[in-house]
Amino acid sequence: MTFDQSGTPSAPSETRPDGADLRVGVIGLGFAGSTHLDAFTALPGARVVALAGQEEARLHELGESRGVERLVADWQDVVAMPDLDVISIGVPNALHHPIAMAALQSGKHVFCEKPLATTGDLAAEMVRAARDADRVLEVAYNHRRRADVAFLKDYLDTDPLGSIYHTRASWLRRAGIPGLGSWFTNKSAAGGGPMIDLGSHVLDIALYLLGEPVVETVSAVAYGELGPAGRGGAARGAISARTDAPFDVEDFSSALLRFTDGRSLQLQASWASYSKVHEDIEVELLGSVGGARLHVDDYATQGTLELYSDVLGAPTVSRPQVTVPGGHHQSVIEGFIAAIRSGENSGGTGAAGGTARFSGHYGEYALHRSRVVDAIYASAQAGREVLVPSDEIEGGAR
Ligand SMILES: NC(=O)c1ccc[n+]([C@@H]2O[C@H](COP(=O)([O-])OP(=O)(O)OC[C@H]3O[C@@H](n4cnc5c(N)ncnc54)[C@H](O)[C@@H]3O)[C@@H](O)[C@H]2O)c1
Repeated sequence: MTFDQSGTPSAPSETRPDGADLRVGVIGLGFAGSTHLDAFTALPGARVVALAGQEEARLHELGESRGVERLVADWQDVVAMPDLDVISIGVPNALHHPIAMAALQSGKHVFCEKPLATTGDLAAEMVRAARDADRVLEVAYNHRRRADVAFLKDYLDTDPLGSIYHTRASWLRRAGIPGLGSWFTNKSAAGGGPMIDLGSHVLDIALYLLGEPVVETVSAVAYGELGPAGRGGAARGAISARTDAPFDVEDFSSALLRFTDGRSLQLQASWASYSKVHEDIEVELLGSVGGARLHVDDYATQGTLELYSDVLGAPTVSRPQVTVPGGHHQSVIEGFIAAIRSGENSGGTGAAGGTARFSGHYGEYALHRSRVVDAIYASAQAGREVLVPSDEIEGGAR
């Protein structure tokens, strides 16, 4: 261990004085880890005291510039620190499960990058562990925190579209494979390609806007035409070292999802495709008396919304002017801290004492997204429609 653990460790989470800052350990130094570090550092009520990652120079540069006391290479050393309240996970997907399980079982709250895990079964174990330990497990579906998504959600609450029978959601890239040859493009390290990476974000936005319908069946295809041939790499990507692992994930996938209530969703994701898109996020809702479209072209922060209706019988388009500031991770983390505080103040006694203080915050909704992505890969492999397994998770969405 290389961390400097000077001074007396403060009290573990159960005895931390009311209102004292949550003590956070962040794991990962790439886009995700550094974004978590900055978000926790900027927010009141939390303090990053430990940071972990394998790139030594970056570890010191990031940690020292943010005043982090303890800098270590391996995640195990952070999770073993008894005086932390929160573990924040920004590492390759296959490490989410072991880190979260160890952290939850040692009584820490967990903020985890998406996807929750590489498979639905592993995600279900994590949700069960959070419930058993009665600790918050929150997942970084940050794009749903966009101001234009929030606007659309408020708009839909006024019921302007009639019955929304079909939705199209996609995140498509022309040449954006994140780190050809890194963990991202290997199935055992990542769980999949763009569908688990980008598709899970737009799936999350669509399910959120639609009020959490339950996906019952999936019929999908998946192709790997560019990546395995070395085409379609992103200019920027993972900071993790390249490996010799094969490119054995898809670079394009498309799926038709049917909800239990008869509605449907067409979901597409690509890291690379010969098409007119550059970096294109879209969610389009088709209703019986109106429609709405979110279209984010290359991370645009304005002009992303269109609403469709008839005015005096004439097809009409309106374009609400909504500006989208950044900081979406910070918004999810703010909610994560608020969930911890409200559970702590609820007067409950924790799962062992019979009261689930953080019910609804055990990662339940992220589990359903993991089940859907699993089913998409299973359907693509089987070449037919498959059922999405259902999880009976007490106190939250499936
Ligand atoms: N929500 C978003 O917008 C968003 C964006 C990018 C990535 N992500 C997610 O974040 C996660 C990480 O992605 P990234 O792009 O930051 O990856 P990255 O490869 O750039 O960084 C991964 C980090 O994990 C660290 N790491 C690996 N093994 C470790 C170990 N044993 N102990 C400690 N640290 C270890 C590496 O040293 C590195 O710093 C992935 O799950 C990805 O899906 C989410």
